[in-house]
Amino acid sequence: MSDPIVETVKARTDIGEIIGEHVQLRRTGRTLRGPCPLHGGEGPNFSVDPERGMFKCYVCQEAGDVFSFLMKHLGLEFTEALRMLGARAGIEIREKQRRADPHAHLREALGFAAEWHRRQLDEPGGEAARDYLESRGYTLEEATSFGIGCFPSKWDGFLTAARTHGIEEDVLLELGLAARGKTGDVYDRFRNRLTFEIQDVGGRPIGFGGRLLVAREGVPKYVNSPESPVFRKGSELYGLNWARGPIRRKGRALLGEGFTDVISLHRAGFNEAVAGLGTSFTPRQAVLLARMTKEVLLLYDSDSAGLRATFRAADIMLGAGIHPSVVTLPGGHDPDSFLSEHGDDAMADLIRDALDVLEQKLRLLTEKGYLSDAGKRRQGLDRLLGTLRSAADPALRDLYIDRVAEVLGIRRQVVIEEVAKQRLATVAGGPGRSQGPGGGDSTGSGASKHGGRPSTAETQSVRAEEIAERDVLALMVSSPGLVRRAAREGLEPGHFAGPAARSVFEELLRAADEGDEPDFADLAPEAHEVVQSVQEAELDLNNAEAAFADSVSTLRSAPARRRIAELERALTLASGDEARALLVRLSEARAAMRGSARPSPFARSGG
Ligand code: CTP
Ligand code: MN
Repeated sequence: MSDPIVETVKARTDIGEIIGEHVQLRRTGRTLRGPCPLHGGEGPNFSVDPERGMFKCYVCQEAGDVFSFLMKHLGLEFTEALRMLGARAGIEIREKQRRADPHAHLREALGFAAEWHRRQLDEPGGEAARDYLESRGYTLEEATSFGIGCFPSKWDGFLTAARTHGIEEDVLLELGLAARGKTGDVYDRFRNRLTFEIQDVGGRPIGFGGRLLVAREGVPKYVNSPESPVFRKGSELYGLNWARGPIRRKGRALLGEGFTDVISLHRAGFNEAVAGLGTSFTPRQAVLLARMTKEVLLLYDSDSAGLRATFRAADIMLGAGIHPSVVTLPGGHDPDSFLSEHGDDAMADLIRDALDVLEQKLRLLTEKGYLSDAGKRRQGLDRLLGTLRSAADPALRDLYIDRVAEVLGIRRQVVIEEVAKQRLATVAGGPGRSQGPGGGDSTGSGASKHGGRPSTAETQSVRAEEIAERDVLALMVSSPGLVRRAAREGLEPGHFAGPAARSVFEELLRAADEGDEPDFADLAPEAHEVVQSVQEAELDLNNAEAAFADSVSTLRSAPARRRIAELERALTLASGDEARALLVRLSEARAAMRGSARPSPFARSGG
């Protein structure tokens, strides 16, 4: 789909020059090199190819043309990037027939209100709001930069100002900035509240949220603008105008519950944070986010209402192809209170520990005994189906199905059939019930065995183990004297991961004991594969001793390492007493590993 205008703009734009305005580039041959501005790298891993008009970062893997660079780096929409580059290249980008904005009168009133509420912070009537902001540690500049202002305690402060400005009452009523009482009198909707300007993604004011400055019985803590032709709550996200660039750059979004959470997160540098607008998360909001990122972390309250909202929102996100994860805040905290009590680093830790939404559900189901008790597993499965069914991304759905089959000990095919049943039910009878995980107790080791996805580190250590097994066997085959040495070193068949390698080692031990040649003929076919890979191993016989000592030590500690990995995965599913018990076992396993990995007497000592 090549658009001649787009191609012309691209052809007349020097990508090196544009990117060079954002980061220092140096020519190296055909390309320009520099630190990657997209992930904030420091080494020269970011490469720009002016001839092809492309850029690529070898660390964060971001790549594209000059438009995608501006979209990612500055958070621009494509048309904005096009217009910006067009203007520089002297090419006029004709916008679609710009009709007169039918909501101009609403926008004008909103713009006036936004300016007015900010100004009130400096006025005598803004005293209470100033004190309140100070008590929460905000300077006035900071507050206004986040669109915070106030409506003082009068009934008509704003109304009078707006009328004087020539704004019609009907417009104020339509926007919900004013309300009409039973007796017909019109008055300010927001009074004695700290007010948050709600902006659309382009930064234009579309409504307000007002927080009570002084808690009062029977008066709602928050009052928000009602919907209007320019304010559709289900289609907007609070903070998105500030967050869109960071979301694209960081490749993720944080979703909090409200105004104060978003602002506190931004202040702490988590400027990829947004929130809904006092209504539950909608599919339109999911689509809006999905255009910018596929990774969203939810930071809702961890009470039961918060969890229900979390899982509901997560299922909606899955439907938009987003991969949602859950950040668990300690009980009673929201992001704002957590940040002010524990600080930015603690928040970064919590965010780093975010758990994939399915894992979070599994953890809660495990806690509530749904996975340990065969009778309850059926219900457990039912509670997971909504999430499996929602996952629109086929790769993610497949992983989820695998995971549920493993944890519940149900055949994969059965899980798939259940998911399919639910899908049919959805098509036939509207959306299925949205289910949160249920209520109980412990995880069995069956469930924990295949806990969270293996980490890269884990995969690497498995690989290291395979190599060590092969090398040890290969060295023993080539110099039979090493078999005795291995035995003296405490290497046992149980140190090998699988029965095949174990049986090869046992045969080597037997042969060494009986002064015989090893004979692998009677071993199982898998053992023959091991023997073959052992014979094909390329050994550096100059360093045979050291390699042998290293590999033996790797193998001796392997069972402990496997045990540690298992316990770590189990921990992702556990909490409470179970988690504490697992932690004790984990520290024992770590101690055992330190013991088993003690340096071998052969290690590197003169080869
Ligand atoms: N909210 C709302 N309408 C309400 C209550 C809450 O729109 N009647 C939204 C607001 O966006 C609010 C969020 O839900 O920010 C979370 O509400 P709550 O936890 O009650 O308030 P906080 O934002 O935590 O406010 P604070 O920390 O100032 O108490
Ligand atoms: Mn709060």
